[in-house]
Amino acid sequence: MRDFINLRDFDPARLQAILTTAQDMKAGRDTRKPLAGKTVGMIFEKPSTRTRVSFEVGITQLGGTPLMLSASDMQLGRGETISDTGKVLSRYLDAIMIRCLSHNTLTELAAASDIPVINGLTDLSHPCQIMADLQTMCEHFGGLDDLIVTWFGDGNNVANSWIEAAVLFGFELRLAGPVAYQPGAELLSWAQSSGGNIILTEDAEAAATDAHVLVTDVWISMGDEEGTRVQDMKPFQVNDALMALAAPNAIFLHCLPAWREMEVTASVIDGPQSAVWDEAENRLHAQKAIMAHLISDNF
Ligand code: CP
Ligand code: NVA
Repeated sequence: MRDFINLRDFDPARLQAILTTAQDMKAGRDTRKPLAGKTVGMIFEKPSTRTRVSFEVGITQLGGTPLMLSASDMQLGRGETISDTGKVLSRYLDAIMIRCLSHNTLTELAAASDIPVINGLTDLSHPCQIMADLQTMCEHFGGLDDLIVTWFGDGNNVANSWIEAAVLFGFELRLAGPVAYQPGAELLSWAQSSGGNIILTEDAEAAATDAHVLVTDVWISMGDEEGTRVQDMKPFQVNDALMALAAPNAIFLHCLPAWREMEVTASVIDGPQSAVWDEAENRLHAQKAIMAHLISDNF
């Protein structure tokens, strides 16, 4: 697989190899520069802090040149097709990372491009984020075996990638949220037919009990209408009462940006069990490893 579109496109051994590289890079054991002489374009149709900066810094640390491309400043913003864009960029660049509104834009770009295309978040998934989250779990627990992860709130793009990770790595994933915001049926049915241990529930307290990782995300993702989301999601706020039910060594994760006192209280995200800053840092290491494995021939 040349592109990094969804976790389920890969077998667990390949993802594990990428995570090992990420840990080696973070620890300074792997200082190779597999992107030397290469240029990686970064297309953004939506705002970003972490993805933009961690990719730009990561490309530079691997010896490559990052090229920031805001979709609204490209002919893409005036109606040039993503397919034509991909064909042209393939003649200049060695890889493309894209954050786009519609997942179809990503798959059309990948189909038209001759170079690796990396998913920097779509409406359907956020696989780079979950690689960083898995790396954070490995750091805290020494591995992924026998862990229980509970997701609270919206069954969104980040939740979708958590489902894929849980199936591939075999950990239990509880999704606690309103039925109306559950992840899509196709993904849930793939998870079920693949033997995943995915539990859907509206009982936040039961879902938190004995979990090792409590994780949430904004209730209103980029591109979502607010509607009644805040009211609907309120019972799934991660707070001290839920953290107290979790395993004693549990950690709190959030991809960020966070809205304090909405999906998570300040006491939790700024508290002793929060691992969100390690998680954010690991975007850098995980993505360097992803790029090394996909763009270089030597990994
Ligand atoms: N978590 C994440 O993708 O953050 P940004 O939107 O800042 O890139
Ligand atoms: N679910 C959020 C993640 C932001 C990194 C969004 O799509 O806006």
